[in-house]
Amino acid sequence: MSISIRFRLVLATAILSVSTWGMAQSGQAIYQAKCASCHGADGMASSGVGKALKIKPASDPSVKKMNEAEMIAAVRDGQGKMRAYKASLSDEQIKASVDYFRTFVK
Ligand code: HEC
Repeated sequence: MSISIRFRLVLATAILSVSTWGMAQSGQAIYQAKCASCHGADGMASSGVGKALKIKPASDPSVKKMNEAEMIAAVRDGQGKMRAYKASLSDEQIKASVDYFRTFVK
């Protein structure tokens, strides 16, 4: 009896830590893993890749005037040389990374 309760506790803890890990995959983490190589850690696209692909910095007026939904659509369906992310990221992940990118848009 005591063993099975203990086992259930272990199982519950394992499930809990897996689900919190999923939640802890913040927009910042996704952005750094998937987006920063092109858009830069600060969103300014000042790296060689950013320059080569002519990526606009987050401070560019044309980026500033995009709303969240337009940015989500750009990432989901692709824009210019940026590939579509709908196959590799969930809607939540796309929204989270866009929201993080938007913290650079000032
Ligand atoms: C291979 C390089 C590359 C990667 C990786 C990349 N992008 Fe882009 N992104 C681009 C290019 C190129 C454009 C279109 C050029 C432009 O207008 O800046 C663009 C456009 C955008 C735009 C529209 C605003 C803008 O700058 O024109 C947003 C928002 C955006 N990307 C967010 C993201 C997010 C979020 C990720 C990660 C999930 C990501 N990008 C990954 C290259 C990339």
